Amino acid sequence: MKPLIAGNWKMNGLTASITEVEALIGKFDGAAPDDRDVLICPPATLVAGFAVQFSDEAIQIGGQDCHAESGGAHTGDVSAEMLADAGAAFVIVGHSERRADHGESDAAVKAKAEAALRAGLTPIICVGETENQRTAGKALDIVSGQLEGSLPETTDDIVIAYEPVWAIGTGLVPTNGDIAEMHNFIRTKTHFDTRILYGGSVKPGNAKEILSIANVNGALVGGASLKAEDFYPIVMAAPGAD
Ligand code: PGA
Repeated sequence: MKPLIAGNWKMNGLTASITEVEALIGKFDGAAPDDRDVLICPPATLVAGFAVQFSDEAIQIGGQDCHAESGGAHTGDVSAEMLADAGAAFVIVGHSERRADHGESDAAVKAKAEAALRAGLTPIICVGETENQRTAGKALDIVSGQLEGSLPETTDDIVIAYEPVWAIGTGLVPTNGDIAEMHNFIRTKTHFDTRILYGGSVKPGNAKEILSIANVNGALVGGASLKAEDFYPIVMAAPGAD
């Protein structure tokens, strides 16, 4: 399976940040290796510009969220169709920051994932337990419930990202055994060829170890995706597809 290394810039990045993407492509020496997929999800303001600028490069551009409807009276929202029109190929849905900050339920995440598929985008559907839930031994149950509630009816072209909430932006990472257990569990709930990404404090120093765990088919990278010098070694740490 071709690994997918996705950068989630969150609410970071101005037009000048294009230099980081150029620096990343520069490190590829012209073309990103074709045995891995590289994705950058900048803020919505930069999606169209990046997609145009890098249309000939081996990196793809994605959104960080979308509305479930294709258009209408939803001030401030962006639809999946608009992202696709802007040149995006993927969209992250159900990130824990959206679930927490915007009260997004599993049903809302599912509707967004369906919208992404409708618009021809690949949704990256995020799931993950909180620290309390893990301590209480409920991590598998919580993720199981989130998958049941958030996955679209058609699951042929989706990506799942397992991101323990307590590992996001904290420098904390589950043990390799815990990551393996969760990814094996998610594998039993989805297609054999659905990519399951790990996210939460992936850094140049731990990427190789995490990306070599069975059923870890890539990474969703926040902070370390903002600088080419950090993101490049993470991209290259993934074992390439055969
Ligand atoms: P992090 O964020 O790599 O900064 O922990 C990951 C994410 O939220 O997708």
